[in-house]
Amino acid sequence: MYDIHSHIIYGVDDGAVSIEESVEMARQAAAEEVDVIIATPHYIEGLYVNEYEDNLERLNKIREQINKAGINISIYLGNELLITPELPKLLKSGRVTTLNNSRYLLVELPFLDIPVYTENVLFNLEIEGYKVILAHPEQNEQIIDDPNILYRLIKHGVCVQMNLQSFEGKYGKRVKKTAQFMLQHHMVHFVGTNRHSPRKSNFSMRDIADRMSYYYKDNVLDLLFDNPAKIIKNEYLQV
Ligand SMILES: [Fe+2]
Repeated sequence: MYDIHSHIIYGVDDGAVSIEESVEMARQAAAEEVDVIIATPHYIEGLYVNEYEDNLERLNKIREQINKAGINISIYLGNELLITPELPKLLKSGRVTTLNNSRYLLVELPFLDIPVYTENVLFNLEIEGYKVILAHPEQNEQIIDDPNILYRLIKHGVCVQMNLQSFEGKYGKRVKKTAQFMLQHHMVHFVGTNRHSPRKSNFSMRDIADRMSYYYKDNVLDLLFDNPAKIIKNEYLQV
């Protein structure tokens, strides 16, 4: 399985705090049958300003350690980028990256509102050839109140990544209901853990996928295998 949203790189955002934690997260993911992780450190101007080269250097150190430990998992590099009017310029600067250097880009909205420039920025990114994946929109207050906002964005070509733990109820009933609603209406294209540290309780992606299939009438495994595989290969995803 694929986990396309993970803060597994140590010391760059609010994710793993040490290389030991990064390795432990990889070990746990492999035990959950995850074969591929895309590392997505936050880039938020003024808060988490990590640079591509530094992230890659840390990732290579993690790769070395997991190889030594015999953990069988591939980790690719990406970013989770907060939407701002500067985003197209930031991408051109090379300080941040798309998911595994593909056309796919993980973009997060603020939790409370949808900034007025959102559609404009998303449209400009599309014109420049990027494919935007919105990170966990089920947690955005405006979308919780009116999921049609998300529907309109999807119609304009945006893809959606849902957090597995939103579906499990970690962020409360309203987020959980929105996650279920999005699955029912085929408004989800990828899932991810958005994990920030090693987990302390049991977790099975397969069990969660089984529960998701009650709501998602197509093959739920598309969200865990086929669709994310297209990111790594930079192939087109028909939404
Ligand atoms: Fe995240």
